[in-house]
Amino acid sequence: MCQFFKNWRNPAVGAGSFCALTCRLFEEACECERDSVAQRELFFSAACIAEVSNEDMGLLGPNHGELYEELATAFCGSDKWKLQRYGLPMVTEYLTEAREYLERGKDMIYALMISLAEELYNHGEFTYIAPLFKKWYGRIPGLDVHTRNRYLRFIFEHVGGTESGHFAYMTQGLIHYCRACGVTPDWEALGQRNQEYIRETAISFDRLCATMKVSNEQAEVV
Ligand SMILES: [Fe+2]
Ligand SMILES: [Fe+2]
Repeated sequence: MCQFFKNWRNPAVGAGSFCALTCRLFEEACECERDSVAQRELFFSAACIAEVSNEDMGLLGPNHGELYEELATAFCGSDKWKLQRYGLPMVTEYLTEAREYLERGKDMIYALMISLAEELYNHGEFTYIAPLFKKWYGRIPGLDVHTRNRYLRFIFEHVGGTESGHFAYMTQGLIHYCRACGVTPDWEALGQRNQEYIRETAISFDRLCATMKVSNEQAEVV
C-alpha cells in the first residue's frame, strides 16, 4: 500500500507545475505589444490555466494535497507511505517528465496539449475508481459511513464536473493561445497526445503492479 500511495498521485506537485505554466503565459503576455490582440489572448489563456490549479491548491475548497494525505494515511495505517524509500522513479518517470515540460518545455502548444491529456485522463480515472474505492473501503469492518466518506473525500472531490471542468478550461486556454499565435489548434495532434498519455500511464501502472507483487512475495517469505 505504501508503494501505491507514494507513487500514485501527488496533487500538490501537479498544482505546482500548472502554476508554472500560468506564470509562463503571463510572462509571454507581458512581453507582447501592449493592448494587442496577442496580449489579450495570452492573458485569457493564462486565466484559463489558473482555474485548473485553484481547485487543487484549495483556493475554492479543501486542499487536495491534504485530502490525499488523509486518504493515503487511512489506507496505509500510518503516514510512513511518505518515506522516500517507497518512491519508484520508473513509475513516476513519464508524469515527472510531463510536469517538467510544463515548467521549462520550449513548445507551449505541446505543453498545453499534454496538460489537456492529463485532465481528460483524470476525469476517466476518477469516474472509474470512485465506486471501486467505495466498495473496497466498505468491506472494512467497523468503519462507519461518515468516516469512510471523510477518508474518500479526495476521490469524491474529483468526480462530476471537477476534472471535466479542468479539461474545458484547458481547451479554452489552448484556443486562446493558438489565437495569440495566429494558428489553428491541431486537434489531431491533441488526439495523439491523449493516446500517448494513456499508453504511458498504462506502462507506469504495470511497473507499479509488478513491483508491488514482488514486495508482497518478499513479505510473505519473511
Ligand atoms: Fe485535485
Ligand atoms: Fe485536474
